[in-house]
Amino acid sequence: MKAYEIQGELRLDQVALTERPTPVPGPNQVLVRIRAVSLNARDLGVIGGFYAPDLPLPFVPASDGVGEVVETGDRVSRFRIGERVSGIFAQQWLSGEPLPAYSSSTLGSPLPGVLAEYAVFDEDGLVAVPAYLSDAEAAALPCAGVTAWHAIVSEGAVKAGDTVVVQGTGGVSLFALQFAKLHGAVVIVTSSSDAKLERAIALGADYGINYRDQPDWSQAVLARTDGRGADHVLDLGGASTLNQSIAAVRFGGRVSVVGILSGMQANAVHLIAIIQKKIRLQGINVGSREMFEAMNRALAASGLKPVIDREFPFEQAVDALRYLEKGAHFGKIVITVP
Ligand SMILES: NC(=O)c1ccc[n+]([C@@H]2O[C@H](COP(=O)([O-])OP(=O)(O)OC[C@H]3O[C@@H](n4cnc5c(N)ncnc54)[C@H](OP(=O)(O)O)[C@@H]3O)[C@@H](O)[C@H]2O)c1
Repeated sequence: MKAYEIQGELRLDQVALTERPTPVPGPNQVLVRIRAVSLNARDLGVIGGFYAPDLPLPFVPASDGVGEVVETGDRVSRFRIGERVSGIFAQQWLSGEPLPAYSSSTLGSPLPGVLAEYAVFDEDGLVAVPAYLSDAEAAALPCAGVTAWHAIVSEGAVKAGDTVVVQGTGGVSLFALQFAKLHGAVVIVTSSSDAKLERAIALGADYGINYRDQPDWSQAVLARTDGRGADHVLDLGGASTLNQSIAAVRFGGRVSVVGILSGMQANAVHLIAIIQKKIRLQGINVGSREMFEAMNRALAASGLKPVIDREFPFEQAVDALRYLEKGAHFGKIVITVP
């Protein structure tokens, strides 16, 4: 089969198309012919050695794939040949709270990824794809969609009338915007681009703040909420945004700590504000199969469509990764596999 590998070193210019043996499913496994792969900021982190500098090479990158079951092991009972399925991000996290072992079961590092014509999964590590979604739309879900669902719905319990702030206009952020609107919230989006803010408002956001023009954007959130602050802020910027998120949230509010776009170490965190305001800082790490399935039911009931910025053919997967690196996208970048 054709597959992309990170080859000699952990660098984007080392990602190349190659031939590998098509994997053979074990008794509890399913062979999936991959039809679409979506990219996440994490994939660049994996390729660049940011997460696992000792990742054994060569390595097939990317965590999020959708495809069709083409072969099943003898003991497989959850799926049949021909069904459309998607791998769950942490293959062992089926339900409940996460356990330490689940972090070593994530696709696209340390487990091999899905940027290939075929991939094998344990049958427990798959969910059925909502029938109304195209392969490209469904490929957007496993990491970005589930993370946003976990933060906004499973943990955040966002309800009608709440004010939610989401940062940027990438994959996680636009899903969070859509899920918060689905639950009746008022949504404030921050972005580096006025043009992207206009697109976010067209998608349902109530208010946009350009964080380049207004680095102290928490002030705009306070002004917009009559001084009260937002009920929930999804922090995606990390090091450079956490204090703004803490300043923007209301007394007793929630900051979902999700992203590390500006760095993993936040120095001089405003501890006194966290204490005085009795803020909850909630770490979010993608989510379980149970959350994925709950999200899929909500998607099917609402008909909500993931936002796809651009699709690239399989032969142009490296261009797709370079396009992700540029940061000009709005929503998800998808690679389609013939
Ligand atoms: N904890 C988890 O489970 C989990 C799961 C998925 C992703 N993540 C993390 O969440 C972050 C977003 O991931 P993604 O895949 O959605 O990324 P993405 O699609 O690449 O989107 C990133 C967007 O965020 C905005 N942005 C960039 N730098 C920023 C900064 N310093 N401050 C505020 N906004 C910034 C930009 O939007 P504009 O162009 O509009 O400014 C950019 O397009 C990453 O750090 C990723 O590692 C965490």
